[in-house]
Amino acid sequence: MPDTNSSMSPTITSMIRLDHMHVLAAFHRYHAGSPWWRKRAIVNSACAALEIHAQLEEEVFYPALAGVLNEDETLGKSRPEHDEMRATINKLRATGPEDAAYDALFHELMREVMHHIADEETVLLPAAERALKSQLRPLGARMTRRRLQLVGERPREIAVNTAGTFPIATLLLGSLLVLGVTHCLPKSRKTRYGSKSI
Ligand SMILES: [Fe+2]
Ligand SMILES: [Fe+2]
Repeated sequence: MPDTNSSMSPTITSMIRLDHMHVLAAFHRYHAGSPWWRKRAIVNSACAALEIHAQLEEEVFYPALAGVLNEDETLGKSRPEHDEMRATINKLRATGPEDAAYDALFHELMREVMHHIADEETVLLPAAERALKSQLRPLGARMTRRRLQLVGERPREIAVNTAGTFPIATLLLGSLLVLGVTHCLPKSRKTRYGSKSI
């Protein structure tokens, strides 16, 4: 039975490109001279985003693509490359940001991820757009549902590290939420005896 909500969903390929952009933006915020707490927030944020992204691709995107491509070399090396990335993430987690090896490990992760993203964006995503056409939005909807489950398993970790990685964006988002909430509340004015609704 067709999923009626999926016609409104972004395509799976546009969601994957957006994930890649977010991770690359986090990479650009990392500087060797930054304080340790900021480095750790950026690394933790990028690592959580990469783990969720890799799992989504392995559960939703790669199987769909494998169903329409014959023995594709780039697709064949995608899971092993995710495993290399996971191994580097584990090494980073075992190394504190005060450690001299931390910068080098994060740069190693950046190199692995940028190489992997380049292969996906030049080979796999265009192949999916040619071969999966009408399935791209239903797959995007499936990926969103699964993402919500995976993010729901680690909400606090993701919120704290996002705030440390993109403080201005988080501040703006927080301000917009406050403005939205106060806009919806009844207006009040101050009187000699305290606030009074108007
Ligand atoms: Fe990937
Ligand atoms: Fe990817």
